Amino acid sequence: MRILMVGDVCGRPGRQMLREQVPQLKRAHKIDLTIVNGENAAAGFGVTRPIYEEILAAGADVVTLGNHTFDKREAVSLLDEEPRLLRPLNYPPGTPGQGYCIVQAGGQRVLVANAMGRVFLPMDLDCPFRGVDALLEEQSGRYDLFFLDFHAEATSEKEAMGWYLDGRAAGVVGTHTHIQTADDRVLPGGTAYLTDVGMTGPSESVLGMDRKAVIGRFLSQMPARFEVAEGKRQISAVVVATDPESGLATEVQRILIRE
Ligand code: FE2
Repeated sequence: MRILMVGDVCGRPGRQMLREQVPQLKRAHKIDLTIVNGENAAAGFGVTRPIYEEILAAGADVVTLGNHTFDKREAVSLLDEEPRLLRPLNYPPGTPGQGYCIVQAGGQRVLVANAMGRVFLPMDLDCPFRGVDALLEEQSGRYDLFFLDFHAEATSEKEAMGWYLDGRAAGVVGTHTHIQTADDRVLPGGTAYLTDVGMTGPSESVLGMDRKAVIGRFLSQMPARFEVAEGKRQISAVVVATDPESGLATEVQRILIRE
């Protein structure tokens, strides 16, 4: 069983890169399931129906989100209509949408979830650690392996989640910072871990946004309108291979392709 997780797709350049690269990555790595973080896919902020469909057409099976989940109004109805579009599971009870789904892939039932960190993010969500515990308990017996996109800012919180789920998840992959980390490994209990998978989109940018505007904001300390950058692009991803018996990871390999 081989899972491809693609990091934060940023605007049109990110969606183009997804279309151009995902089919061949899937072939080259014999991928059974593709998960894409799409929370920055609509010009950097959130997702719309046409953009969600574009991500699926590029080869995604599940699309995860994060702190920009509700930036676009239509996300509310989209989440209700699309069970494979996930928002962080630790939003307060009653929030539209779902934080997990179970998909059939490679002859296995894969529980995919999205959770969000609480450190250095301006939102007061419920505890992601307890949220994942509750999910695993509730879904016990209904899945063969578990994969988590942990959308968080702090390295410490992400690494803690990796260790917390070691032996219980096939993969814990971080998203949100847009910079790929070099710490991919299979933890001793069998969980593939990567602090951050990185961003898919403009590479000559600041986290995907036009660098002039960002630098200007640092210099002036005044609000500035950020737009997705243009020019050269990259795709950031990770491949996790799992053992069908244990549902745990045997291999993890990060991927960063720049034009
Ligand atoms: Fe984010």
